[in-house]
Amino acid sequence: MTRGSGAGHASHVIARIEPPWDTATWRAAARAALRAQVPPERIDWSGGAQGSLLGGTDLALLPAIRDTPRVPSEFLAVADAALCHRAPDRHGLLYRMLWRMAGDEPSLLQRAADPDVHRARTLAQAVRRDSHKMKAFVRFRAVPGADEEYVAWFEPEHWIVDRVAPFFARRFAGMRWAIVTPYRSALWDGQALAFAGGGTRADAPAEDAHEDLWRTYYANIFNPARLNTTMMRSEMPQKYWKHLPEAALLPGLVREAGVRVREMAEREHQAPRRRIPAAPAAEPVQADTLAALRVAARDCRRCPLWQPATQAVFGEGPDDARTLIVGEQPGDEEDLSGRPFVGPAGRLFARALEELGIDRSTLYLTNAVKHFRFEPRGKRRLHRRPDVAHINACNGWLRAEIAQVRPERIVCLGASAARAVFGPGVRLSEERGIWRTREDGVRAFATVHPSWVLRQGDADAQAVAYRGFVDDLRRLAEDAGTVPSHR
Ligand code: URA
Repeated sequence: MTRGSGAGHASHVIARIEPPWDTATWRAAARAALRAQVPPERIDWSGGAQGSLLGGTDLALLPAIRDTPRVPSEFLAVADAALCHRAPDRHGLLYRMLWRMAGDEPSLLQRAADPDVHRARTLAQAVRRDSHKMKAFVRFRAVPGADEEYVAWFEPEHWIVDRVAPFFARRFAGMRWAIVTPYRSALWDGQALAFAGGGTRADAPAEDAHEDLWRTYYANIFNPARLNTTMMRSEMPQKYWKHLPEAALLPGLVREAGVRVREMAEREHQAPRRRIPAAPAAEPVQADTLAALRVAARDCRRCPLWQPATQAVFGEGPDDARTLIVGEQPGDEEDLSGRPFVGPAGRLFARALEELGIDRSTLYLTNAVKHFRFEPRGKRRLHRRPDVAHINACNGWLRAEIAQVRPERIVCLGASAARAVFGPGVRLSEERGIWRTREDGVRAFATVHPSWVLRQGDADAQAVAYRGFVDDLRRLAEDAGTVPSHR
């Protein structure tokens, strides 16, 4: 039998893909058409809308005359994305490619200049971009009167809700949320993902208390010296600005940029400081309160440390604390209790604070790495320092905590904390006890880690190390006003 002779006698075959975002229906239809050897030009993918005057055979009625051909997995990935595009020709285009690959062009995808390949890749790329925007720009708003329920309104360009919703289910597994779009809504009840019809902007609460935090956060991270409005618009098209509470700030920030750059330059002129390299870029964390961050961190899989650990140990303390303390990582007791600084190092730190008249309950205590890294030794779990990769992977959480708490000052305990707060290149031996100003304007200094004090060989060495530690922390006490300043 020659190719294309098996499709019966009808002039064309009708394929119905409903709803239009249903990728599984297209896959089943394409498989059936291939097995029935229907050539691309004989399929009406509009569900009969185009050729209805002529009639046509329903695809589902055609007998299979060959096995399903194998297609490269790369094609499946391109097709999965391209199928979410709104372009009406996508179904026909992808079927034509399938047909060609199942025929005598198995390497079709490698021919980048082929018009079909080029078009499919362009559609897939547009869908990936739209998906990325949805991940970046969806903002949940608390439902008034409901306990931890959030709704977001979003207007995607393409049919991407089903594609992107699982990302939000993983990222915000601990809360109940809905994302409403004009054509479809995704709903997560804390256990399972469900889909419903579309809605309107009015289905999402207009504004909630957290939005002030978004605005403040944005005003803080906005660096006028880097202002490039053309690039900003291409990275964050204006279409999306309206969903962002912080967008209301943009015109003002842009207008003031010139003045702010001058001010920045003058500030740097008056008080020359050693350059602090920017902290390493980390995947940003999406959650708009400390409580939401804490919940999201429970499911963190950004590095493998979550696996052997009991739980993520998130920061704790007042969410408007003026001082934020960063340690290295939870130890054995912290891992079991889920609270930072409750083990031997935490107790030593508490003693030093007490000596300096600093009320521990006023501090926000957290760590550079949120999971305990250890090596099992019999029944014991021996602490292991986190690698740079762990610190970097965890940095999104720390940044988000700093953005939420907005402390006046940060104290880093140990080299890992200093790296997380100041970025690579910082040397504890050189930086110890010296206040620096970070790019976000928060002042910070680093000292040794209390567990380093505890690790000193004998009692004398430990006493010396402890005095040094307390002396460093005196800078914090002076700054916070619990002891008089000697400067
Ligand atoms: N060491 C840390 O750095 N953090 C803790 O929470 C406990 C010990």
